[in-house]
Amino acid sequence: MCGIIGYVGERSAVPILLEGLKRLEYRGYDSSGIGVINKNGSQIVVRKAPGKINNLEQLIKGNHLPESCLGISHTRWATHGAPNKVNAHPHFDNAKQFLIVHNGIVENYEILKERLKKKGYRFVSETDTEVIAHLLSDFYKGGLLDAVKKTVDQLKGAFALGIISKADPHTLMAVRVGSPLIIGLGKRENLIASDVPAILNITKRIIYLKDREIAKLTKDSIEIFNFEGKRAAYKVHTVTMSAEAVAKQGYAHFMLKEIHEQPEVIAQMCKTRIVGKSIDLQGLNLSLQELKSIQQVNIVACGTAYHAGLVGQYVIEKLSGVPVKVDAASEFRYRDPIILKNTLIIAVSQSGETADTLAAVREAKKKGAKVVAICNVVGSSLVRESDGVLYNHAGPEIGVASTKAYTAQVMMLCLLALKLAAIKKTLSFKQQQALIQELKKIPQLLRKILKSKADIAKIAKQNSHYGCFLFLGRNVNYPSALEGALKLKEISYIPAEGYAAGEMKHGPIALIDEYRAVVCVATHSAVYEKMISNMQEIRARKGKIIAIATAGDKTIHHHAHHVMTIPAVHELLTPLLVALPLQLLAYHIAVRLGCDVDQPRNLAKSVTVE
Ligand code: AGP
Repeated sequence: MCGIIGYVGERSAVPILLEGLKRLEYRGYDSSGIGVINKNGSQIVVRKAPGKINNLEQLIKGNHLPESCLGISHTRWATHGAPNKVNAHPHFDNAKQFLIVHNGIVENYEILKERLKKKGYRFVSETDTEVIAHLLSDFYKGGLLDAVKKTVDQLKGAFALGIISKADPHTLMAVRVGSPLIIGLGKRENLIASDVPAILNITKRIIYLKDREIAKLTKDSIEIFNFEGKRAAYKVHTVTMSAEAVAKQGYAHFMLKEIHEQPEVIAQMCKTRIVGKSIDLQGLNLSLQELKSIQQVNIVACGTAYHAGLVGQYVIEKLSGVPVKVDAASEFRYRDPIILKNTLIIAVSQSGETADTLAAVREAKKKGAKVVAICNVVGSSLVRESDGVLYNHAGPEIGVASTKAYTAQVMMLCLLALKLAAIKKTLSFKQQQALIQELKKIPQLLRKILKSKADIAKIAKQNSHYGCFLFLGRNVNYPSALEGALKLKEISYIPAEGYAAGEMKHGPIALIDEYRAVVCVATHSAVYEKMISNMQEIRARKGKIIAIATAGDKTIHHHAHHVMTIPAVHELLTPLLVALPLQLLAYHIAVRLGCDVDQPRNLAKSVTVE
């Protein structure tokens, strides 16, 4: 949830570090800082600023840093200590010999801080990170690598570190335990970063540092060690994602670009996962026998990914007859879950770095369960800790509010449901093929919805004044209502609640009056008439209704003030389409309210701490 970048080479470090920070801003942006060693290695100079990276840039313009070829920088999402200049990274030791940036949490920092204070070290910040700088100073006896090893052996928790030191003014050190960190290989220059987009404009040659590894970089060399001090082998990957893939490509926001990418994302999944007349779940890493023996599926995820899991529950149970439980990972990890034999755990995560989801997976594995990840980031922590992985390959999702990753997750769960149905023989071949044909239509149907985006923007404009929204859905679109509410609240900050429509009479109906907007997912389904009844109850209480209906529905206009439509498709697949108008509705309301759509307040793209 913070962003780290480090540079060692022959070029000027400051502009490279600043550019890299800007590309990491989605990981956290409540304060930032940069530190470089001057050319003769006599001094480390630091600049830090609260708020967005632009504030740091302005600060440096007015107060230059020395020319340097070695430095580290950091953009923060506060966990310990308020988001202010003092707590911003990087952090020094007292003698200003060592400088450090950190992503993650040092869980035992209080004990270490007390011990260091007793030894005379003075602390200036409230952060856990500062402990690491003083430990380095305490352990340094002439060898930087040795001091780093001794320091990290003291730390408990998850952390990715970037370290520079006057003790060795040509070396950039990096450490990875639990939080993501990569190495970028350049020509007579090397970099470290929390995520690939940060350095794509410099190199596409990447090493994914593994957990409990230390990297020692100079402009001409890369050495990687494990915590026991032994050299570790590493693999150089060439990233196919191009720098411009991360750019906004003409859209006002990353979120809008990613909403528009959904047809291609689903089309790509159809192409790679529907081979001939069967479903290819390459990466699942389960034998036919293991698939046949699955008696229970337990999906664990957070936020939007959790909502995708809820859709998966309806689809997998309906098509394959396999019982499905869905847990918020933050609950699963602490409730000592009962995991029956032959249970398949499915961990859904866009980033693959969400701390709660990782912890849930570790809990499940401790209890002997097989884990398959549905993930969008190659080489992420979740992938490495799972037995199998179904990559979404949705491309980088930069907007903090998840959109294309959500539809890709739902699509993957639909594919898995079909795979299980084929193996369990709960669907005839004909029924399977009919559903496969329906899935193949989704990209075109999404493009059709995008053609009506101006109408959706108009509805958003007409309803952006409401101070509270209720989102109602039933059956497979109950999760769609939850997701629609999350999208709106997280980017517009308008209180929005998703609810099972059948539950309205048990309380939420008290909310209904002419000052509330109610979004009703009323597409053609077995529960359509029930939704119409809900809408009549809302109208009777002067609630303003925005309905999502199936194109061609003639009666819906009598019940709703505004109607957004989706093309007809098999009922179980409607969440794949319903998500798009809900995403656009939330987006346009948030833009109209002047909110920072791509980087909403208090949020980070990847919540790598509890
Ligand atoms: C989604 O719009 C939110 N930003 C958030 O709920 C997110 O889905 C959640 O933090 C899980 O992230 P993950 O998919 O990377 O694990």
